[in-house]
Amino acid sequence: MVTTDWEVLEKRISCRAFREKKMIEEEKLEKLSSFIEGLNQESGLHFQLHTSKRRGEAAIKLAPAMFSGVVYAFAALVGGDDPVSAEKVGYYGEKLVLYAERLGLGTCWVAGTYDRKSFWTEVPQGEKLWSVIPLGYAADKTPAKQKMIRTTIRRKDRDLKEFVEANQDFERLPLWVRKGAEAVRLGPSAANQQPVNIVFQEGKVFARIWKKGNGMEFLDLGIAKLQFEVGAASCGVQGTWEFGEMGGFMIR
Ligand SMILES: Cc1cc2nc3c(=O)[nH]c(=O)nc-3n(C[C@H](O)[C@H](O)[C@H](O)COP(=O)(O)O)c2cc1C
Repeated sequence: MVTTDWEVLEKRISCRAFREKKMIEEEKLEKLSSFIEGLNQESGLHFQLHTSKRRGEAAIKLAPAMFSGVVYAFAALVGGDDPVSAEKVGYYGEKLVLYAERLGLGTCWVAGTYDRKSFWTEVPQGEKLWSVIPLGYAADKTPAKQKMIRTTIRRKDRDLKEFVEANQDFERLPLWVRKGAEAVRLGPSAANQQPVNIVFQEGKVFARIWKKGNGMEFLDLGIAKLQFEVGAASCGVQGTWEFGEMGGFMIR
């Protein structure tokens, strides 16, 4: 069975309960490692894969208030300390999330609720560790607590129509724009703030941050751009984004 990029995107949710004993197979770790290397080469970022090889020993400790189980691998998302680098971290980080999902692994963007002392990672001068992404097998049954966290946080989801700024009705927008907006809505954002809108002007698409303040909005901008790209591609419209706020979506 072929799984499309859209199906992968639709299936993704933040994994907050990892299996205690099931480690990631060596073959998958190698795939993750070379995928990350490719992302770094393309972006100039410094993502790093960290793993634990001992059963029961976590590679990183996440806050028990939000997560359960043992995390045997994670990516440290390191990049420059400026808005465009943050946006790239979001864009390429979400590429990694969808790739891991395709490998059958659970993921979650975690920018705050982890123990920084539980691991070491290289951070070149002038750069910062923007976020981590735990990678691992989701627990067979999601515990009630983790289900509750998601339901509570996703309750604040904005209406799909609010994701697009255009001077025409949402229903009259091209299908690829509506599908792109749907992909943005389905995507992750820090504290589910959903701070990115799609602007549709004279047949062109731009991305705008409408809500600023938590310091994560440029990560969210990059994530939203990648999600939009996958949504549009599912309708046969391939394009690439210009980085930067109000950067345009260039159709190929
Ligand atoms: C940039 C970023 C940072 C995040 N940081 C955290 C975090 O520190 N702790 C946490 O539990 N979830 C964190 N999240 C996960 C979001 O809460 C989650 O993506 C959002 O609630 C939507 O839920 P979903 O991913 O299950 O669709 C973060 C998400 C993003 C995009």
